[in-house]
Amino acid sequence: QLADSLFIINNYARDYFQETLFNSEEGQSVGLSYFEERGFTEETIRKFQLGYCLNTRDTFVHTALAKGYNLEYLQKTGLVTIRNEQPADNYRGRVIFPIHNQSGKILGFGARILGKHDRAPKYINSPENEIYIKSRVLYGTYFARHAIDRQDECLLVEGYTDVVSLHQAGVENVVASSGTSLTQDQLRLIRKYTNNLTILYDGDSAGVKAALRGLDMAVEEGLNVRLVLFPDKEDPDSYVRKIGADAFREFIAENKQDFILFKLHTSLQDAGNDTQKKAQLVNEIAETISKIDKVEDFTKQQDYIRQCSQLLKIDEQGLVQLVNKFIR
Ligand code: GTP
Ligand code: MN
Ligand code: MN
Ligand code: MN
Ligand code: MN
Repeated sequence: QLADSLFIINNYARDYFQETLFNSEEGQSVGLSYFEERGFTEETIRKFQLGYCLNTRDTFVHTALAKGYNLEYLQKTGLVTIRNEQPADNYRGRVIFPIHNQSGKILGFGARILGKHDRAPKYINSPENEIYIKSRVLYGTYFARHAIDRQDECLLVEGYTDVVSLHQAGVENVVASSGTSLTQDQLRLIRKYTNNLTILYDGDSAGVKAALRGLDMAVEEGLNVRLVLFPDKEDPDSYVRKIGADAFREFIAENKQDFILFKLHTSLQDAGNDTQKKAQLVNEIAETISKIDKVEDFTKQQDYIRQCSQLLKIDEQGLVQLVNKFIR
């Protein structure tokens, strides 16, 4: 009942913001031109149901209340806040990215500020409520699921705009973590469609460190995790615009590396000649390898043991024993 009401309100808001984007003066001159500057085509904007919220105090909430929508529920969705004791639009002057569930219903929104964002946050996202549980959602799943299934691979990016841009470039098997580290529920969601996860992050980003922290969890879920690092300051959206769709796909194919081996390489570099650090990373990599299901993926585990022991210049049987210590 409550859940239904929230879906109905989000549905209404999605239509309202889309209408504003295409059919109001401000929507066209501010919102649409912003998307056009980013290179989004009208087809792309319509597909992702992007919108615009007028830069006025309360146009949306007044219209919604006049239509009979309930103020309490409007607040629950995060579309409306109470400011100076009066209801006010929360996303005013922002472009809107609706967040769909797997069947296309609207769970919430990401609202991006235009231009500089020194004072206000760049994105305002819907709060969690009865229908929007962030740890279970990946942005873009609704648009990507068939492509993920067909290509047996899921690409993971950080942001809304990365998903939208890649779709436009013909790369459709892509979802976004929306800037947070992956949860077990999100990994299971991916696992419904494929075992192959490829993480597309900027090389210097904190995102890679966050992803590394989730590596064991992903391996434990049975995922083959690969990584594509982007040049400094580039994200998939900026990079595909820079080099074009074909070169982008080629870049992905050529720069895909195994995430377990990547982890080993980077921690070996970190450790240098420090024997204590090296001992610790041997332990860590053994623990990661131990998460591979020995029954289902025996040869996979063997391959990693062989490759890692070579990289570490340690005895293969020694690594086998260490790995086994982590399997109870
Ligand atoms: P553009 O700058 O428009 O290209 O967006 P982006 O997706 O590249 O942004 P960025 O790489 O900075 O962040 C990645 C994702 O993290 C975004 O798509 C959002 O989901 C989330 N995010 C970024 N900034 C904020 C913020 O200020 N608040 C919140 N809640 N989330 C944010
Ligand atoms: Mn940022
Ligand atoms: Mn980033
Ligand atoms: Mn980004
Ligand atoms: Mn970006």
